[in-house]
Amino acid sequence: MMQPLEVGTRVLCRWRDGKHHPVKVIERRRLQSGGPNDYEYYVHYTEFNRRLDEWVRLEQLDLDSVENDVDEKVEDKVTGLKMTRHQKRKIDETHVEGHEELDAASLREHEEFTKVKNIATIELGRYEIETWYFSPFPPEYNDCLNLYFCEFCLTFMKRKQQLQRHMKKCDLKHPPGDEIYRSGTLSMFEVDGKKNKVYGQNLCYLAKLFLDHKTLYYDVDLFLFYVLCECDDRGCHMVGYFSKEKHSEESYNLACILTLPPYQRKGYGKFLIAFSYELSKKEGKVGTPERPLSDLGLLSYRGYWTRVLLDILKKHKGNISIKELSDMTAIRAEDILATLQALELIQYRKGQHVICADPKVLDRHLKAAGRGGLEVDVSKLIWTPYKEQG
Ligand code: ACO
Ligand code: ZN
Repeated sequence: MMQPLEVGTRVLCRWRDGKHHPVKVIERRRLQSGGPNDYEYYVHYTEFNRRLDEWVRLEQLDLDSVENDVDEKVEDKVTGLKMTRHQKRKIDETHVEGHEELDAASLREHEEFTKVKNIATIELGRYEIETWYFSPFPPEYNDCLNLYFCEFCLTFMKRKQQLQRHMKKCDLKHPPGDEIYRSGTLSMFEVDGKKNKVYGQNLCYLAKLFLDHKTLYYDVDLFLFYVLCECDDRGCHMVGYFSKEKHSEESYNLACILTLPPYQRKGYGKFLIAFSYELSKKEGKVGTPERPLSDLGLLSYRGYWTRVLLDILKKHKGNISIKELSDMTAIRAEDILATLQALELIQYRKGQHVICADPKVLDRHLKAAGRGGLEVDVSKLIWTPYKEQG
């Protein structure tokens, strides 16, 4: 009889595209129905983001390709080396920009603690949603695979019947807090984490299911939550949100951003990003998102920055400085420079960064930057910057 595979094993695994891809075994568990050596394996596809990690059956693994990687792990422990070959490879593999800002030790600690997804699906409003990552729900939820959320107050429950009972008595029809924007069926609510602590915490638990490198250990008191909703006669249904520190020393204007999966790729992400910069403009400050950015976060920001900056460059035929761009957009100068550098629109002459904007090149980049997303109509934003009360 075959010995079960060890955690750490590298092997090829058949994925949903029918092809074999390299994986690493992260965890294993005995199959309830099977014999003593029947296991299933939780695998990480080394070419893909961690949200695609999943439990697979032995049949999906190509056993001829087995490679053991367990020794290196032991070596890590014994030598306590700061950055082992193994970790280095791990970082190279994930390709998520921003990881370089997490040191190897905290990255490893994070991955160890969050290695296996706990909740598999959630129900929220009309949607059943598959989750992406681990989220640290309170221990009494450890045995749950599915959770049922009230789409308005975000209370979560273990059973559907509990949710049905809850919906009869829950009197919220929109997020708590102030509606600060309404245009057509879109509304934005500002929720103060201090005034609505439980809502803020529930939102963080929910969001963590789709955010990898974000922690929940901070205090919701210190944050404002901007919740985007699609409204109809049944209420205001959450589409996504971003959080923002009330006071940020690093000039962060956004901490976490999420579009719920059923609403993704429709332009809501760029709307939320645009909204965060509109708030910064009203504050008269420049802003930047908290790092690290996820792969999808980086794509969305790059797209947003490119579109906003190149539109202005086009209008001004390139005759504009980075400082002026920053003043007009509330985008931090470093982010402008990085965006334009990535597009190869910057030259360094006589100790100065100079923007070189050939109209044809701008048009080509603009086309490549994708759709503009949903527009924020600033005339519909009724908001004053946060001030501590009392
Ligand atoms: N594959 C390829 N490109 C993508 C994908 C994808 N799955 N999703 C978004 N993009 C890119 C595209 O360029 C897209 O523009 P396009 O559709 O015009 O081509 C652009 O990002 C943004 O698309 P939107 O529809 O405006 O954004 P969306 O509503 O999908 O939200 C978001 C983007 C918020 C990043 C979403 O993917 C999400 O919630 N992801 C999970 C949580 C997360 O990673 N958040 C960011 C963490 S970093 C931080 O919080 C500071
Ligand atoms: Zn409720």
